[in-house]
Amino acid sequence: MIRELSKNEVSALHYELVMKDIIAAAEKLPPFPDVAWKLNAMIKQMAPVADMEKIIGMDQALAATILRLSRSAYYGRRFDVRSLKDAILLLGNKRLLQVVISACALRYFEKGGAALEERELWEHSIATAIISEIIARKLKKGRVLTLYTASLLHDIGKTILNVYARIYMQSNLRRMRSEGRCIQVERMALGIDHQELGGIVARNWKFPPEIIAAIAHHHDPESGPFWEIASVVYAADKLAVDPVKEKSQARENPFDPDSDMVFKNLGMTAKIVEEIKAEFAGHIVDVKKMLEE
Ligand SMILES: [Fe+2]
Ligand SMILES: [Fe+2]
Repeated sequence: MIRELSKNEVSALHYELVMKDIIAAAEKLPPFPDVAWKLNAMIKQMAPVADMEKIIGMDQALAATILRLSRSAYYGRRFDVRSLKDAILLLGNKRLLQVVISACALRYFEKGGAALEERELWEHSIATAIISEIIARKLKKGRVLTLYTASLLHDIGKTILNVYARIYMQSNLRRMRSEGRCIQVERMALGIDHQELGGIVARNWKFPPEIIAAIAHHHDPESGPFWEIASVVYAADKLAVDPVKEKSQARENPFDPDSDMVFKNLGMTAKIVEEIKAEFAGHIVDVKKMLEE
């Protein structure tokens, strides 16, 4: 005999289907280009510039973005970059790799639909990546490329969740989040949160385990492996707030680094945080300009 499902069972079934739909979308994302890792290996082997140029030039669209970012105010302002060869020779290995990773990542943030939301998310991601680099330098942590990549992609799960929030909730994540803490709100509304989803994406992209962990635990870094890398991403994420929005946020919910356990465990005192913010403030105009170019 077929029994009628209870209201709770129908709702549980609905969430399970929504979640399956979202995970399937995450698994369908095109693979992350491996050009940055190949380039990194070539730099270590001191490969000829022509070979590096060939690897970057294989994907024409990617090469064009790499060239555009290489000329941007933040990455290449001191140089006259006219070709990929110029970018390889002038930017320096660290900046070159950051430009290549940023160009690869940008593809996943440039989607139709809610252009403003995707743009804000990209701006926040770039800010988080730059701040994590400043933190790594200040605290002498090293692993700059790992931190830069994990920070740049820490909210990649939001690019997918945003789409499903629109479909299933006729809402967007920003509006949903204003009603409560984002992780819980996302879980309640869609059955999965953006950090778990980001972890699934990073695993599918076959990223190294420390990058997967940092993306999958960036709101609760001490709950997973590689806590130190995840903690830097957590701290950079907290500090990557637009100064205008920060003023209104500070009124409602003042952030005190001295009472945050993750900041404490990293050794990030209020004084260090102020120094990091001041250094990042010096880059904000360049970053904004880069996003407009
Ligand atoms: Fe996040
Ligand atoms: Fe974030």
